[in-house]
Amino acid sequence: RSVVASAAWLKEHPTVRIRDTQNVQTKINGLIREGPSRVQLITDFDRTLSRTHYHGKPVSTSYCIFEDDHHVKEEYRDLAVQLRNKYYPIEINPNLSNEQKLPHMIQWYKESFDIVLKLKVHIDDLPAMVQRADLHLREHTVSLFSLLAKKGIPILVFSAGLGDVVRISLDQQGALCDNVTILSNFLEYDQQGWPVKFSDTLLHMYNKSALFPHAGEYYRSEKVSNRKNAVLLGDSIGDCSMADGAPQVKPPPDGDSVVLKIGFLDHDVEKRLETFLFLYDLVLVDDQTMDVVSELFEDVC
Ligand code: TMP
Repeated sequence: RSVVASAAWLKEHPTVRIRDTQNVQTKINGLIREGPSRVQLITDFDRTLSRTHYHGKPVSTSYCIFEDDHHVKEEYRDLAVQLRNKYYPIEINPNLSNEQKLPHMIQWYKESFDIVLKLKVHIDDLPAMVQRADLHLREHTVSLFSLLAKKGIPILVFSAGLGDVVRISLDQQGALCDNVTILSNFLEYDQQGWPVKFSDTLLHMYNKSALFPHAGEYYRSEKVSNRKNAVLLGDSIGDCSMADGAPQVKPPPDGDSVVLKIGFLDHDVEKRLETFLFLYDLVLVDDQTMDVVSELFEDVC
């Protein structure tokens, strides 16, 4: 049995909020009982694996390399920031439904991708841009990923961000282990290394599920096909559905899978906590570390 989520443990972990501790304990004990060979980790990248602030400075998303980099023409940087300031408040507005938000979010992607393509960043210049960006992983993400790699637990990074940046950033920070698969929006390049377009299937914040074609393929692959339990990490409403429709992941009432959802809530806490407590089993309030997730997996392994 795990001490995670017990009364004594909660006292020592002030960033943790839980609506139904009994339910969380039952889920964790289920994960432990079935062990490391039956579980998979499914995680968002931006503001989930990546931090939202670092040494007092805000950290943006995988798009930030175009928003903040001083090597990028100022007019493009301004445009990218204007887009974020216009659309991000819509994304996190708890008073709008996903259906109401979706057309705005699609428009955001369209305008943002246009800018990224117009910038014409050569494939060889991307690593240096990612290096310059403040795209830091939450503390102890690398040790968590190493533990999972050692135990052969697959990790799906399911990101509606910029896939190329996500991949390079994980690699540069030592978290791109063999057990990691990234599903995201990737640039396609011509033979000279200039970007020409984005991959055809747009992954946005509200189509993260097994219905997304590449996710369907992943969930059916041998790597995860017998892993019916999942730990899911996210920072938004859309992240909660990342395992939905995976044939082997069937929580009650349709099956006996355990899906433990952990949500990172770093800002606008008062406005959003209620929604998060409803969507996620365990909510971490402004916790810039992976410590709770690591403790959980140490128990499971
Ligand atoms: P995700 O965190 O669910 O993978 O979604 C990606 C995040 O990136 C989401 O919060 C929207 C944000 N985003 C930007 O910051 N800039 C952009 O240009 C676009 C299109 C999205």
